[in-house]
Amino acid sequence: MSDPKPTFGHVPVMLRETLEYLVPPSPDCLMIDGTLGLAGHSSAFLSAHEGLRLIGVDADAEVQAIARARLQPYGDRVRFVNEYFDDFFMRYADDAASGAAERPGVVLFDFGVSMYHFRESGRGFSLQGDEALDMRLGASAPRTAADLVNELDERELLRIISTYGEEPFAFNIARAIVRERGACRIDSTARLADIVRGSVPAKARYGRIHPATRTFQALRIAVNDELGRIERGLSAAIRCLAPGGLIGCISFHSLEDRIVKLAFRALAVKRERAYFKDAPVSPIPLGEAERGLVVLTKKPVEPADDEVAANPASRSAKLRVARAVGGNDHDRRD
Ligand SMILES: C[S@@+](CC[C@H](N)C(=O)[O-])C[C@H]1O[C@@H](n2cnc3c(N)ncnc32)[C@H](O)[C@@H]1O
Repeated sequence: MSDPKPTFGHVPVMLRETLEYLVPPSPDCLMIDGTLGLAGHSSAFLSAHEGLRLIGVDADAEVQAIARARLQPYGDRVRFVNEYFDDFFMRYADDAASGAAERPGVVLFDFGVSMYHFRESGRGFSLQGDEALDMRLGASAPRTAADLVNELDERELLRIISTYGEEPFAFNIARAIVRERGACRIDSTARLADIVRGSVPAKARYGRIHPATRTFQALRIAVNDELGRIERGLSAAIRCLAPGGLIGCISFHSLEDRIVKLAFRALAVKRERAYFKDAPVSPIPLGEAERGLVVLTKKPVEPADDEVAANPASRSAKLRVARAVGGNDHDRRD
């Protein structure tokens, strides 16, 4: 089956590298795509590996409906889960430990949101047009972006905008939001964008990117607890992996990449790395081996120049890959 066409302008990022690094350790193994999105990566994996079976997880029900239609040709090789991936993997890791669920040979994360969210969702991710300030991916997220903007105190708004948005004018922006919401609740993207534009110095108003871009990104991260979910989801996903299983993470900003780097580093097994780097499965007998990861990407892999030229949105992507080695010691943790 040929690779499906991009949908809503969404092009899977670093697809070539992802396929090269994440070669399933056995032909009929299970892959879990923790961020199925529009199934760009998943459809390429299913097409490249005939025996592969897939669980596709996405918090967003609308996006998943599109992926479901797209993956229809692969029939019962694919199952769908509509849930935030940390909730899914924490439950799945326990099931795998008790033998109730199959351990995946491949896990993929491609963090963030897709072009669908910006162009079609109408949920306030985009600075174009005027939409309700929602930004929730999944229905279980407790608060919308409008709730945060109108209810958080100034100090917390400042923390979110400066930490998650890395916004140099976070102080001015948080102060302006608190002042303006006193006059009238801030419910729309256009009003928030105007408030941000009006609060930053003139020289920052007319740059290459809209002055509210970083504030919008920060609110999206906070609404969906994106970084907390990556931490919890990644650690549970690593616990799930079959020995010899591969995990790949594509991140788009330094805060995401740092979480991946530290999670991999914390579990990196030096003995394995030194002696068994190229063996698909650890030759140390299960149970005796230290359970850990062999990090296959010492430095993160970045998109090639031709990809960045064709899809500028890929320019900040970073891929890190690791392989699970050793026994499933976690199975015996209690
Ligand atoms: C960058 S897109 C993935 C694109 C996909 N790899 C493709 O090629 O079509 C990220 C997707 O992950 C979903 N997502 C983001 N954070 C999530 C989370 N914590 N749990 C579940 N899904 C999440 C978003 O709804 C979005 O559809």
